[in-house]
Amino acid sequence: MDKIIIEGGRKLHGEIKISGAKNGALPIIAATLLCPGTHTIHNVPELRDIRTILQLLATLGATWERIDTNTLKINSDNVTEFEASYDLVKTMRASVLVLGPLLARLGRARVSLPGGCAIGARPIDFHMQGFQKLGAQLELEHGYVDAKVCGRLRGATIYFDIPSVTGTENILMAAVLAEGTTVIKNAAREPEIANLIDMLTRMGARIEGRGSDRLTVQGVESLQPAEIEIIPDRIETGTFLIAVGAAGGDVTLTNCNPSHLPSLFEKLRSSGLYLEEGETSIRVIRSGPLKNVDIKTMPYPGFATDLQAQTMALMTLTEGLSVIHENIFENRFMHVAELRRMGADIMVDGGKAIVKGHGKLNGARVMATDLRASASLVIAGLAAQGLTEISRVYHLDRGYDDLVGKLSAVGAKIWRERE
Ligand code: UD1
Repeated sequence: MDKIIIEGGRKLHGEIKISGAKNGALPIIAATLLCPGTHTIHNVPELRDIRTILQLLATLGATWERIDTNTLKINSDNVTEFEASYDLVKTMRASVLVLGPLLARLGRARVSLPGGCAIGARPIDFHMQGFQKLGAQLELEHGYVDAKVCGRLRGATIYFDIPSVTGTENILMAAVLAEGTTVIKNAAREPEIANLIDMLTRMGARIEGRGSDRLTVQGVESLQPAEIEIIPDRIETGTFLIAVGAAGGDVTLTNCNPSHLPSLFEKLRSSGLYLEEGETSIRVIRSGPLKNVDIKTMPYPGFATDLQAQTMALMTLTEGLSVIHENIFENRFMHVAELRRMGADIMVDGGKAIVKGHGKLNGARVMATDLRASASLVIAGLAAQGLTEISRVYHLDRGYDDLVGKLSAVGAKIWRERE
C-alpha cells in the first residue's frame, strides 16, 4: 500500500487539466447495459472506481477496451448475467447503478446491499421503492436485493423524500424502457444526471425536464448504442481551487466547467480568493490572508457535500470562526480527528462543525478515511509547516486521476512511497 508525503509551504503556479467526472462516468458506463451494441465514451478518468465498475460489467457479460487513455468502447451484446456480488459492491456502493439497467433489459437483477460506509448508513430504500412502483417484485435475502419483473416495467409517478443522485439515475435507467410514462418528482439536479440524460437521449430515450427536479420519461421499446463525452469533474475542480486557496499561488484549471460550481465560487470569493472564469477554464489566485466563511451542504445547486472536507481544511487556515453544517451525510466528519492531529481547532456538535482558524497547520502523520476526507488532508498538507504523511491513500485513487502528478506539476512537493 502507498502513502503520500507532502513537504508543505510551497505556493502553486501553472496549469492543471481537469479530468472527466467520476460520478458522471459511473452511471453512463452502467447505462451501456441497457441495450446490445458498442457504445463509445470519451473523457473517462483513470480511476480505481472506473476499473471496479468495468470489472462488474465484465462479470455481467459485457466486454470493453480503452482505445486511448480516456476513450472507452463497451460492447454489451452478451449481457446475460444479472448479479452484482458483495465483493464488488462493498468496494464501491455506486455498483448499485446496474440495478436499473439490468432490470429494464433482462427483467432481473440481483445486487448486494451496499451496507454502511465511512460517511454514514447510506441506504438504497428510495431506489427499491422506485423499482417497486415501476412494477418490480423485490426480495431481500442473504444480503442481496433480488428484483424481478414479468415482461416490461410499467411507468409510474415516483417522489423522492430527499433528492437522491444515484436514486434518480437508477430510476431513470429503468424507466426509459418501461411501458408508459414515468414522472420523477423531487429528482436530484446534479450536472452528472444531465450528462446521463444526454447519453440516454442519444440511445433513443425520451426524457423531458433535464436540469430540473421533475423528470418525465416516455418509455420506448428499444434503444441503440451511443457515443458521449463525460463532463469535467466539478469535485476535482473544486478540490484544486481550494488547494490553491490553502497553499497560495496562481493556477489556471483547464478543461473544466465553471458553471457547475456556483456555490463554491461564492464561498471562495468571500474567503478572499480571486477567481476568473472562462468558458472552460478558471484562474484562481490567492495573494492575501484568508477570511472565514460558513457553509451548509445541500443538494445541487447548493454547496456539495463532496467539497465539505476540503473546505474545512481551508477554514482552519483563517483567523476566524467558521461553522460548517453537513446536511447530506450524518457521519461525514471523519477528517476532523486527522485535521486536529495537524493542529486544527475543530469542535463537532451533531451535523455541525465549528472551526476556529489559527492561520496555520503543522505537518503530521495522518490517515485517509474516505475519498474526500483524504483530499482534505492533502490540502492541509500543502499548507502545513513541515512534513505530512498520509497513509491508506487507496481512497484517493478511487476518485482523483493522478492527483500527485497534477500537484507536482504546479510546484507542490508531494510524492508517493510504499508503506
Ligand atoms: C452521490 C455521489 C456522492 C455524493 C452524493 C451526494 C455518485 C456515484 N455518488 O451519492 O459522491 O456525495 O451523491 O451529493 O454519484 N438516501 C436515502 N435513501 C436512498 C438514497 C439516499 O435515505 O435510497 C439519502 C442518503 O443517505 C443521503 C441523501 O439521501 O442522506 C442523498 O444521498 P444520494 O444523493 O443518494 O447519494 P449517492 O447517490 O449515494
